[in-house]
Amino acid sequence: MSETHELEGLVALVTGSSRGIGRATALELARQGADVILHYHQAQEAAEEVASLIRSRYQRRTFIVQADLGTVEGCQHVVQQALEAFDHVDIFVANAGYSSHVDFERLSPEEWNRSLAVNLSHAFFIAQGLAPPMKDRKFGRLIFISSLRARSGSPHGPHYAAAKAGLLGLAKSLALILGPYGITVNTIVPGYTLTDMTRQAIEEKREAILSRIPVRKIAMPEEIARAVAFLASPASGSINGAILDINGGIYFPS
Ligand SMILES: NC(=O)c1ccc[n+]([C@@H]2O[C@H](COP(=O)([O-])OP(=O)(O)OC[C@H]3O[C@@H](n4cnc5c(N)ncnc54)[C@H](OP(=O)(O)O)[C@@H]3O)[C@@H](O)[C@H]2O)c1
Repeated sequence: MSETHELEGLVALVTGSSRGIGRATALELARQGADVILHYHQAQEAAEEVASLIRSRYQRRTFIVQADLGTVEGCQHVVQQALEAFDHVDIFVANAGYSSHVDFERLSPEEWNRSLAVNLSHAFFIAQGLAPPMKDRKFGRLIFISSLRARSGSPHGPHYAAAKAGLLGLAKSLALILGPYGITVNTIVPGYTLTDMTRQAIEEKREAILSRIPVRKIAMPEEIARAVAFLASPASGSINGAILDINGGIYFPS
């Protein structure tokens, strides 16, 4: 695909950009002209590969930060490193996340708290750190990656569904609070998307899953990435507090 320059001169931070949707998003934002701060937790080599692609393919600047976003300190570290590396951040994509299948009655306090910390609280703490310089510059784009499970619930992951639903309320609130400063806050709600998180389940139950998706296809990470880039664009300034489902028309998986 050829390069476009919608995001020229902007700096983006994408959490969890070593793999999957975050990786595709980092590459798409760079393709559209942004400099990109990459973040990873454990997949250092994968993050370095993304950085090298951004430099060689799109000639954009990039910087990598490592952190466990299940801790407040990890979130603060990302904010501090990002602002040191690039002075300001224009686009923040809260993408890092994980899901685990645990029976309701066996769900420990630790796993409940960790899921909320990684899947929800990291968006809050990093947004809180990045908002003041965005307000000074009267421009910002916050985009949260939620999940179909926020809408449908999950029989095997109430901790994941609750965290992802929390992102919807957080984004709506920040849209009200930050909108007057030129900062928009929107949420993307992916359905089944082919990444490491879902590959095994999709391989094992492909036909059953496809039969419930009206468009009969699993989304690719690049489809989510293009929607992120659209919301991140300066031209999308009236889209605030929106929730964009990208799921092929499935709203209630079993
Ligand atoms: N795939 C789907 O079908 C689907 C559907 C709905 C929503 N989503 C959401 O989309 C987002 C991206 O998912 P994906 O499918 O691309 O997943 P993925 O391929 O498993 O990638 C997850 C990313 O999050 C990072 N991460 C995980 N735990 C972390 C932690 N404790 N601290 C910091 N970073 C952490 C990982 O970093 P390292 O690899 O460096 O450790 C990785 O970069 C997630 O929020 C997920 O909930 C995905």
